[in-house]
Amino acid sequence: MGNKIRAAVFPVAGRGTRFLPATKASPKEMLPIVDKPLIQYAVEEALDAGATKLVFITGSSKRAIEDHFDTDPELERALVEAGKQDLLESIQGIVPKGVTCIYIRQGEPLGLGHAVLCALPAVGNEPFFVHLADDLIAGEPPCLTQMAAEYDRHGGSVIAVEEVPHEDTSSYGVVAVDQSNRITEIVEKPEPENAPSNSAVVGRYLLAPEIFEKLQTTGRGAGGEIQLTDAIADLLGELPVYAYSFKGERFDCGSKVGYLKATMAYGLKHPDTGDEFREYLNEICEK
Ligand code: UTP
Repeated sequence: MGNKIRAAVFPVAGRGTRFLPATKASPKEMLPIVDKPLIQYAVEEALDAGATKLVFITGSSKRAIEDHFDTDPELERALVEAGKQDLLESIQGIVPKGVTCIYIRQGEPLGLGHAVLCALPAVGNEPFFVHLADDLIAGEPPCLTQMAAEYDRHGGSVIAVEEVPHEDTSSYGVVAVDQSNRITEIVEKPEPENAPSNSAVVGRYLLAPEIFEKLQTTGRGAGGEIQLTDAIADLLGELPVYAYSFKGERFDCGSKVGYLKATMAYGLKHPDTGDEFREYLNEICEK
């Protein structure tokens, strides 16, 4: 097929209540893992998969995200004068040439489904990625690139899934699949006794544009929010939606423990911090 997915949507308008007070005035997606904010890892993953149009669905207190992806001539001048070439390159390369950033305000955080619908004017009638930055995935190749390859094989929509402990199904969208991994059922946050499996949806989607029609008529679901899962459920009877078990490790950085685990894993493999950090961890483990 070889159809390139051009648009990547980043819903960043959630309230991030699990990280209060850190997220009171600053978005959860700007929390750093070692030296880059979560949203920069997200953008790098989308760029690796070939996206050239980055659509951020923003809300209140999200200005820092726009500033992060904008140029900062004053800072660049200061780094030139200080002879800090490496740091200069690290900020100049954040958004490569030929890539467009579009910001759309969600207004009210009515749910992930509503956030995705807000992207319609920027995405139009094309398949597109949805990336939730607080699900950080260390994958080689990166998760969206794996999903784009999967899409090349059979088209349709592709949703990343991961096995979770049965008792945790009520925190996720959960799917049932047939022999070809086509999703036959998807339910948002089912109690373990009602879950169709323990295969949980994680924060990576490659969606056909028909999802927008479904989102326009999706009412409020679990938690009183307009759920993306419910719109996907409406799509199942008409168009193929595949579950994709990605290769890699996911860190739920929307939770405190997940965030700490990610910091640990990325800190250990980062060239600037790995050795010293490993020594420190060995030291405290011996105590
Ligand atoms: P979460 O379920 O993690 O919600 O949203 P949250 O508000 O960000 O965090 P908590 O649960 O209060 O701590 C999943 C993703 O959907 C986005 C969030 O920004 C996050 O990336 N989202 C959610 C929106 O963009 N708009 C919404 O109305 C809801």
